[in-house]
Amino acid sequence: MKLSKQLFKGLVCAGLILSGTANAQNAPKEQMKKLIDANLTFAAQQYKVLAQNVPASVMPKTYNAKDNKVITSDTQWWCSGFYPGTLLYIYEYTKDPSILQEAKQRLAILEKEKHFTGNHDLGFMMFCSFGNAYRLFGVPEYKTILDTSAASLSTRFRPSISAIQSWDKSKNFNCPVIIDNMMNLELLCWVSDNGGDPKYKNIAITHANTTLKNHFRPDYSSYHVLDYDLNTGKVLKKVTWQGAADSSPWSRGQGWGLYGYTLMYRFTKDQAYLNQARRIAQFILKHPNLPADMIPYWDFNAPGIPNTYRDASAGALIASALLELGQYVSNKERKQFVGAAEKMLLSLSSDTYRAKPGTNGGFILMHSTGALPFKSEVDVPLTYADYYFIEALLRYKKWYLADTLTTKN
Ligand code: GLY
Repeated sequence: MKLSKQLFKGLVCAGLILSGTANAQNAPKEQMKKLIDANLTFAAQQYKVLAQNVPASVMPKTYNAKDNKVITSDTQWWCSGFYPGTLLYIYEYTKDPSILQEAKQRLAILEKEKHFTGNHDLGFMMFCSFGNAYRLFGVPEYKTILDTSAASLSTRFRPSISAIQSWDKSKNFNCPVIIDNMMNLELLCWVSDNGGDPKYKNIAITHANTTLKNHFRPDYSSYHVLDYDLNTGKVLKKVTWQGAADSSPWSRGQGWGLYGYTLMYRFTKDQAYLNQARRIAQFILKHPNLPADMIPYWDFNAPGIPNTYRDASAGALIASALLELGQYVSNKERKQFVGAAEKMLLSLSSDTYRAKPGTNGGFILMHSTGALPFKSEVDVPLTYADYYFIEALLRYKKWYLADTLTTKN
């Protein structure tokens, strides 16, 4: 979506743009409570529409409005865990048995991927799905699936570069490691902390340290892809794949880094990870190209800003990460981070980004961008935008409506 002046005025009138800065007063809790309830109720209805549009053996990916068709993927696509994961989050809130039934059917077709070693994405695929299923139901079989998945993912650890190889060698890359890979560390840390082999968490820590050393620019934005030499361990090049330029901050990548270092702090309490997450958050929130509604353009330096596409998936993922980060910081920073997340969630809940009931193929959010340089998935719904949006709403409910946090100064 290229957000026109008229649409922007509409958002302002609807009271959804609270202020131009990230430091605005946190939105009133009553407003957030209503917003969460309305979104989760809507999500349950909408995902029943989506379920009708997805054959039993595949997963939803995006939607082609021209043909009114949901585009699906097999279970090896990196996004295969998001649909069951979103269903489980919706079930957690609504307790709707038909949503749970759909989630269980999708978990059943996904399970076989616990042996997949073709790329680094197993954390996304198995933790967003089976991680949530185990958290909700404690079924031992789900934990075994997570253990096997961690073992599979760990086969991609390369001691010579002290990192997990993201993609296989290709004509473009020798040994690529992408910032997105930080997200897969959650699976590894969780399995080690829950009775699994400690080596998985050690791999995650090693990977996070290598990424911290090599992947960031002096302003704490990150490169998308680092290509390593497997023999010497040296970085061969620092480039982009889905961003606007090698030197530019691809928006979703900044979100993956923010979320990744926040979760690594959760598992390790290593101050270096917390500081990295705080610096990434400041890079994002203080960026002059972050729009007033706080939903990023697809790249912070995208050509043509403001006349270019947004990435609602980046907005949803950053909101979710900021809500977790808000738990670990001083009151002042918490107010900034939670206030920013509130604004992102308010924007995403508005008619500008949230679909009308029964439209959008059944997806919740519109206006995400998958890979603009390849003209792929531009200005469309994406399954992971929905996942992180719903996750952020539930995180807000659990951590900020309940007001269980201790005060830190
Ligand atoms: N992890 C792939 C992406 O963010 O597009």
